[in-house]
Amino acid sequence: MALWGGRFSQAADDRFRHFNDSLGSDYRLVEHDIIGSIAWSKALKTVGILTIDEQQKIETALQALRIAVKDDPKQILNSNAEDIHSWVEQQLIEIVGDLGKKLHTGRSRNDQVATDLKLWCVDEIVLLIESINQLRSQLVNTADKYQNSVMPGFTHLQRAQPITFAHWCLAYFEMLTRDVNRLNDTLTRLNVCPLGSGALAGTAYPIDRDKLAHDLGFAKATNNSLDSVSDRDHVIELLSNAAIGMNHLSRFAEDLIIFNSGEANFVELSDRVTSGSSLMPQKKNPDALELIRGKSGRVCGALTAVLMTFKGLPLAYNKDMQEDKEQLFDALDTWHDCLEMAVLVLEDIKINNERCLEAAKQGYANATELADYLVAKGVPFREAHHIVGEAVVGAIAKQKALEEMTLEELKQFSSVIEDDVYSILSIESCLAKRCAKGGVSPLQITKAIKKAKNCLIGI
Ligand code: ARG
Repeated sequence: MALWGGRFSQAADDRFRHFNDSLGSDYRLVEHDIIGSIAWSKALKTVGILTIDEQQKIETALQALRIAVKDDPKQILNSNAEDIHSWVEQQLIEIVGDLGKKLHTGRSRNDQVATDLKLWCVDEIVLLIESINQLRSQLVNTADKYQNSVMPGFTHLQRAQPITFAHWCLAYFEMLTRDVNRLNDTLTRLNVCPLGSGALAGTAYPIDRDKLAHDLGFAKATNNSLDSVSDRDHVIELLSNAAIGMNHLSRFAEDLIIFNSGEANFVELSDRVTSGSSLMPQKKNPDALELIRGKSGRVCGALTAVLMTFKGLPLAYNKDMQEDKEQLFDALDTWHDCLEMAVLVLEDIKINNERCLEAAKQGYANATELADYLVAKGVPFREAHHIVGEAVVGAIAKQKALEEMTLEELKQFSSVIEDDVYSILSIESCLAKRCAKGGVSPLQITKAIKKAKNCLIGI
């Protein structure tokens, strides 16, 4: 039965009903709708709409319903209710009879859906932070394991300066730390309760909305009823968080896809996260990573979709707003899945240390060291840069690395070069010199790993 029969003389067209119904996606709010309804029944008791006994009956019935659907919420989909709010009300009426019809007094589905969705977001943020922390912890473990794995660092996808695999892992650790912080910021802002805002102008019953908010775990009640039922900033913020988080995962995936390519051959991915080709027997494709990269597009799309849906909406509630949930659910599910996959990929990734070291030695990744060496001998940096550029050209012509050039050969580019140049051209020296905070020196990496581990303690 629809919730508004009295005003209508014709039944809704089946095609319209199908188009209009949202139970197929918002059934996921069932638990939050029930929790919100119980809190509302308590508020109705305080203003004399429900007796103590009536409220108790409603609460007991709603608790039973909550337990009945907990393990298998999909059973809700067998109903023809329009949305989860109608479904819960219908079920309540089935259990307690006409008494159930009192529950919606002073409430609208507009403040109800806003509240349910916020409650869902709070729970979801906790779960997302958990998933991100699992990946953070895996990144630190991998960094710990590969502290000494030297590899080339890139800019413009050209070998730039040597780094370690640990340093690479810790870069992603930082991004994910910011993702957690962003989620916590979003949580602080969404922590105000819209229930008791009615359809748009406020509820006509003298309900203590701050108390109601506290009952539901919110910090306080919202300030303006019109804003309360129209606001979906938290959905947009969560989608932005997801889009940024997925961007991080996509770059992580892309780096590893490159590292795993036959050309780089820096890492080997486990059989557990790769697939073969139906035609080419030699292939082992990095599908898990490619899907992470691909799905980041879908999550950014969800953010854009919701922004576009809301951009021209007049206040207050409009049915357009129903479109938010499918996008939000899909984007956050996707983010969860990708975080889980990223952990799986790192869990038994193998670093090809020899090949990484060899690549770090190639590509003149120590050219900056030679420039710094010249600077230390009194050559102005701009000049030193030019000299080393010429030395690199000379070395390429001889098909040698800089450190393979004889002193005589190097001296052709600058007379200040002496025998002590060879120690500074070594990879060890390149790394050890980067000893300021955030640098790749072994000392800093050990410190960074320790710090990251401390930050995960108790999480
Ligand atoms: N299913 C609706 C949504 O998700 C619930 C709110 C309906 N309110 C209304 N006035 N039609 O947005």
